[in-house]
Amino acid sequence: MRLANKIGLVTAAGSGMGRAGAIRFAKEGACVGVVDLDQAAVNDVVAEIEAAGGKAIGIACDLRDDANARRIVKEIADAFGGLDFVWNHVGHPGPAAVEGIDMADYDLAMDLNVRSVLVTTEAALPELRVRGGGALLYTASISGLKGSPFSPVYAAAKFGVVGMVRSLAGRYAKDKIRVNAVYPGITDTPMGRVFVARPDQQSTQGQDREAILANMASTLPMGRAATPTDVANAALFLVSDEAEYVSGVALPVDGAAIA
Ligand SMILES: NC(=O)c1ccc[n+]([C@@H]2O[C@H](COP(=O)([O-])OP(=O)(O)OC[C@H]3O[C@@H](n4cnc5c(N)ncnc54)[C@H](O)[C@@H]3O)[C@@H](O)[C@H]2O)c1
Repeated sequence: MRLANKIGLVTAAGSGMGRAGAIRFAKEGACVGVVDLDQAAVNDVVAEIEAAGGKAIGIACDLRDDANARRIVKEIADAFGGLDFVWNHVGHPGPAAVEGIDMADYDLAMDLNVRSVLVTTEAALPELRVRGGGALLYTASISGLKGSPFSPVYAAAKFGVVGMVRSLAGRYAKDKIRVNAVYPGITDTPMGRVFVARPDQQSTQGQDREAILANMASTLPMGRAATPTDVANAALFLVSDEAEYVSGVALPVDGAAIA
């Protein structure tokens, strides 16, 4: 098993890629902390992991609150006896508008995409050091590599995540703490449906988000959007010891969209 004897934490693990990652990591032998705002979703993911013979602990909380973003690390490390990796996956699309921008939505996007993951990182560093190193993984986006005309605040936040990842990789290399990011393209999740509905409100008016996603996916190089499992598989490599000499990397999981 690729994560035997590892202890990890996944945020936004109640749905989409985070959920797929938590389940995949547990199948590969990790004890997994499952963190999400949605209590029912957390219970569901923990139950699925346990039913398959894995080990998981769920914490339902709002990661916008610094105290929560910090305490999840301690609770999981205390419960399982340490911490080897964190997938800081939580994020938020933020506002589409610039003129008439909703600044409360701006704050939410910055708090979840940047602030909360930094707070969780701060809490995780001493736990990883105690184990002689570990892995910090972040979720950026192809909008962290190129501009996103319909989600400018989101792009600003994800460019921020990229800057944080590259900076922390050098800073903590001597501690054997590896810092990487995945850059999903459009992914078949509830949040993916928010993004695809944005570009052309006129031509997509009246269509449901399923139809918009299907149309959009058909224009991508591989003719489909990413699945949560596509991204979870890339995440698995980056948090595992197979990636022992891989740090500071931004791995697109976008079926060649950005290429
Ligand atoms: N879906 C995409 O197309 C796409 C593309 C690139 C990057 N991303 C990034 O992937 C991450 C999540 O995306 P997804 O598509 O897997 O999401 P999703 O829509 O499937 O799930 C998001 C989860 O986040 C949880 N959540 C929301 N607010 C929270 C909060 N304040 N505290 C704790 N949990 C909270 C929700 O309850 C939900 O379970 C984000 O960082 C996002 O920016 C998504």
